[in-house]
Amino acid sequence: MTIQEEVAAQTEEWRKTQLLYNSALKEISTKIEILNNEFVHSHRYNPIEHVTQRIKTPDSIARKLKRIGYEPTLENMEKYLCDIAGIRIICSFTSDIYRIAGMIARQDDVAVLKIKDYMKHPKENGYKSFHMVVTVPIYLSTGTETTKVEIQIRTIAMDFWASLEHKIYYKFEGNAPEYIYDELKNCADIIDQLDQRMLSLNEEVQQLKATSAVRESEIH
Ligand code: GTP
Ligand code: MG
Repeated sequence: MTIQEEVAAQTEEWRKTQLLYNSALKEISTKIEILNNEFVHSHRYNPIEHVTQRIKTPDSIARKLKRIGYEPTLENMEKYLCDIAGIRIICSFTSDIYRIAGMIARQDDVAVLKIKDYMKHPKENGYKSFHMVVTVPIYLSTGTETTKVEIQIRTIAMDFWASLEHKIYYKFEGNAPEYIYDELKNCADIIDQLDQRMLSLNEEVQQLKATSAVRESEIH
């Protein structure tokens, strides 16, 4: 049975996978919210700007399976796709990215399956981001099901670039004129510099805050 047929018939198996992936997104987004709250509590600093999440549509699942050479079945989906449930964390500074990734990866019930570090190794087009596929256990009355979630972590500036690049890519179906790609790559370099300058600026501000706190305590 193809995925589209499963969806049309709303089979038990299809509904169960939807339940699992939705539950996995809830588990991971709760973890992220707790980490962020704890950060605000202990450092008075909010590393996460916002979080988005999505479940891949049946059409998109079938398209991806075909593209990588498999029949669009539920079994193949479970076996070969890691991004049915996806969550994107947008943070302020590049330094937040590894910190957040580490805090999630270190949790006892989270297992890291795969990492793609496009921060250290940007794609040729200039794309930067940190990707991590993890599993979380979902506790059902019938037992525990480990479920995969793809987590993408990037700065606001990288996200700005990625969303425009995505639109351009789709508009031209991957065949945009060469100068458009050159210009996008230039923008990626500017984004990179911007992220570095914003990070240094933030470090300066933190230092100024620390020295003025010391002075304050000396006066009182
Ligand atoms: P997909 O088939 O696109 O899921 O790629 P993949 O399975 O090889 O995984 P990868 O980690 O490279 O990419 C996963 C996701 O990262 C994509 O679905 C996009 O959301 C995002 N991504 C990866 N490369 C790019 C890129 O060049 N531009 C943009 N805008 N997003 C990208
Ligand atoms: Mg994907």
